[in-house]
Amino acid sequence: MDEKRASGRYYTRGNPFQLKPFQTWAKEINLEQQTALEPFAGAKDIPQLIDAAQLRCQDWAFFDIEPGAKGIVPRDTLADFPTGFNVCITNPPWLARNSATRRGLPFPEATQYDDLYKYALEQCLTHCGWVAAIIPEAFIRSGLFLQRLRDFISLVPQTQHKTTEENGKRDTSYMFEDTEHPVGLALFTPDATPDVRVWRNNQPLGGLGKLRTHLPQPSRNRSIVFNDPNGNLGLIAIDNTVSASIRFCPPEELKDYPIRVHCRSITKIGVPWHVDIDLLNTYLTTIREKTHDVFLTAFKGLRRDGHYRRRLDWALTRAIVDTQQLQLATKTK
Ligand SMILES: C[S@@+](CC[C@H](N)C(=O)[O-])C[C@H]1O[C@@H](n2cnc3c(N)ncnc32)[C@H](O)[C@@H]1O
Repeated sequence: MDEKRASGRYYTRGNPFQLKPFQTWAKEINLEQQTALEPFAGAKDIPQLIDAAQLRCQDWAFFDIEPGAKGIVPRDTLADFPTGFNVCITNPPWLARNSATRRGLPFPEATQYDDLYKYALEQCLTHCGWVAAIIPEAFIRSGLFLQRLRDFISLVPQTQHKTTEENGKRDTSYMFEDTEHPVGLALFTPDATPDVRVWRNNQPLGGLGKLRTHLPQPSRNRSIVFNDPNGNLGLIAIDNTVSASIRFCPPEELKDYPIRVHCRSITKIGVPWHVDIDLLNTYLTTIREKTHDVFLTAFKGLRRDGHYRRRLDWALTRAIVDTQQLQLATKTK
């Protein structure tokens, strides 16, 4: 497993190239007349998926540090990226820096990024005009490379209720069957784009800038204290496996939970004013509906309603609690 992790080798499963935004991207660049670069080719899964999506490239150029099939040029493309290609379609290696450190795995010294895929993507964008990359879903919250990003598709597995008979077969609905990690497909253009169109599979969710307008103003109010054992507001910050269940609650409901300093899932919050829990929950629901959860971290595994489980981080929680206070104050004026 660690050998696999060292080179970030998780193979692509499922077919995001059938989705509308990719089909549009491919048409625009006249894919059938292009030579596409796959700089992290692995076992050449990507060209097969492109074929299966009824698309063609005129030719492919394959590279990999550890080729997993014939016809791939062995090369460390992170150190020596292939040049002369206008189109790149790939699934770069992923490896979190802290995971590499923990496991004693090498991590390129040439980069400050916290994950290898960001460095790999930067290389692709530096050398190619048109880039399609399958990357962690969390990318859309990183704020990186947004200028040339035109579409970001959160790839949500479709089939999840399998019959007993189907259970025995390989489930290709997951992109990465060995990780089930939430993934997305990012589509870049050579020039700056006016906004990023965000999708959930084929469903358009709206422009990233527009979605962001539904978020509260960021707050630096440090009088709101997390993991406060005497806090007057409870928060269950992670969805359960059934539905969108993140919620604020009375602190008494959490009396049996030990509040740990580093806990990021259930907490008591000290807020130096009277909090209206129902209003906070209504506000949270509105934000989740209007932003389609684009700004909430997704987890491995789907909820029973077919969506990723999400986590509400402390920064957004602080902003919600603070904004609510301001709204209440304005109302009572
Ligand atoms: C996530 S896998 C993707 C494989 C393939 N793109 C696919 O979708 O099936 C990443 C690939 O990057 C390769 N890789 C990792 N570091 C590399 C490097 N420095 N240079 C070239 N390839 C590298 C790994 O060997 C692995 O095959």
